[in-house]
Amino acid sequence: MTVLRKVLSIFGTRPEAIKMFPLCHALAADARFDARICVSGQHRGMLDQVLEIAELRPDHDLDLMKPNQSLDALTSGLLTGIGSVLDAEKPDIVVVQGDTATAMCGALAAYYRKIPVAHVEAGLRSGNIHHPWPEEVNRKIVGSFARWHFAPTETAAAALRRENVEPGAIHVTGNTVIDALHWISSRIADQPSLAAGLAPVEQRFEGRRIIGVTSHRRENFGEGMASIAAAIRDIAQLEDVAIIFPLHLNPNVRKIMDSELGGLDNVALMEPLDYLHFARLLDISTLMLTDSGGVQEEAPALGKPVLVMRETTERPEGVEAGTARLVGTDRHRIVAETRRLLEDRHAYAAMARAHNPFGDGKAVPRIVDVLAR
Ligand code: UD1
Ligand code: UDP
Repeated sequence: MTVLRKVLSIFGTRPEAIKMFPLCHALAADARFDARICVSGQHRGMLDQVLEIAELRPDHDLDLMKPNQSLDALTSGLLTGIGSVLDAEKPDIVVVQGDTATAMCGALAAYYRKIPVAHVEAGLRSGNIHHPWPEEVNRKIVGSFARWHFAPTETAAAALRRENVEPGAIHVTGNTVIDALHWISSRIADQPSLAAGLAPVEQRFEGRRIIGVTSHRRENFGEGMASIAAAIRDIAQLEDVAIIFPLHLNPNVRKIMDSELGGLDNVALMEPLDYLHFARLLDISTLMLTDSGGVQEEAPALGKPVLVMRETTERPEGVEAGTARLVGTDRHRIVAETRRLLEDRHAYAAMARAHNPFGDGKAVPRIVDVLAR
């Protein structure tokens, strides 16, 4: 007789939802599991955009987001809120993804109840606890006691082995973001009108090369973000170029970007795009400028050069594959590297090769297979 396993997936921000929805779909469709979902609501609007597109209905929603929330208030709310859900649900397995406060607290609350934790996107390490901050420490905490480590790449698996994680607990699966990207791309292919909302801005910038931009990292707040804004302003002056920049809802991002870039002719500052429209932005962009983790994984998969506005990355695979380049947050360096790609055909062609170091889009069945054993 098969034993039904109760699996509680816990997530709370946009990137976690994007990387978890394919797994939630698969667990819900599999008779071996009783699949439950708890969202922390660490994000609200940006989380709800994904829940709606993926048609996920959480069993628990802690609705924890507060304007400009501090890490300590968020952490304490998460720990007690998720703890209560675990006491009510008593799952056999808890699944968390990545390195957010929700992932760290979800795992810790499970550990406090001796519930085994599955960590999706395990083993990413920059080697610097301040970049990205606080994510490097969040994922190390989860990695220190998870029962299953689903590493997206061999590089990530090696990092876990270096930390003495039991090799039998490490499974190289690919990153579920590629599963998500395949799902969204096939929805757009079936029904292009789903991603037609960018049409007005596409018309406005017709004939120009589009540069897609995202930026939100906490360690870049202040000086780093001012420098990024100044670089975008310079790039917007270049001939035949236009910027599409969906702004993260964090007020620390919006304030500076609105004041530095609002009203510029060649810059479209937008509300966060839902995943369908962000996939369209990736598609129409000549290159991406970003400090995001997820975008570093998606852009190489689509053959879009990506300039990473960070000092270090825990995703060296894109850089090694030649489709991503670390440019830091220095204004002049960002502008110079962007100009190089726009002006040097060979440099562009060398980066614009579809290459997928982050998986084949089958991470989810591999994870499900391990959890079912
Ligand atoms: C969080 C994660 C980060 C991840 C990022 C993805 C932590 C510590 N940080 O950072 O790892 O890369 O999400 O985007 O877990 N806000 C809204 N609406 C939303 C979302 C955010 O208004 O839908 C605003 C709120 O004022 C909120 C603030 O943004 O207080 C910050 O949100 P928070 O989740 O604490 O941090 P992020 O910078 O988004
Ligand atoms: N994304 C989105 N809309 C946007 C910007 C990003 O759907 O306006 C998606 C993007 O495709 C990627 C994820 O959000 O999958 C990345 O999230 P974010 O940059 O917020 O967090 P990070 O990956 O840095 O943790």
